[in-house]
Amino acid sequence: MRSIGRLAAASVVPLLLLTGCGRGPGKPPGDPLLDAIRAEEREGDLSYAESQGRHLFVQYCVTCHGDEGKGDGQNASNLSPPPPDMTASKNMQDAAYIKKVIAEGSAGMRRAPLSPPWGRTLSRQQIDDLVAYCQSLGRKRR
Ligand code: HEC
Repeated sequence: MRSIGRLAAASVVPLLLLTGCGRGPGKPPGDPLLDAIRAEEREGDLSYAESQGRHLFVQYCVTCHGDEGKGDGQNASNLSPPPPDMTASKNMQDAAYIKKVIAEGSAGMRRAPLSPPWGRTLSRQQIDDLVAYCQSLGRKRR
């Protein structure tokens, strides 16, 4: 009988560990209101940052890059080279590369100076959100 008591005690300890300390240290409590607003602003399967980036992309980039980043914007036929299809570009896996193109323009990458530099117009946060969105375009086809 004593062994059953010990068994019960032994099973309570991990239970306490799971419930009491399971949350892990240092995690701030979530803000339900902020979470709700962010969920509201998310588009389709995009994360919050990607959705923010999508808004900026529609505003600043689609005239050349096209609504879905496929390089078929209304201005694309005037450009040589034309904007690449971001949904198929391997470069979309390289966040640092995308960030540099956006901030310094394609000229910053020793390419044709057709993608404008946004480093003085957009905030760092906006550029990060655009990078996230460009990466999500590359992700869809994989
Ligand atoms: C005036 C037209 C134009 C606009 C506006 C424009 N781009 Fe571009 N972009 C281009 C062209 C053209 C290229 C290809 C340049 C080359 O290959 O030399 C390009 C290339 C890129 C690349 C590199 C893609 C790759 O596969 O290597 C990224 C990333 C990019 N643009 C992001 C953006 C973002 C983000 C915006 C909006 C904030 C933007 N561009 C606005 C024309 C434009």
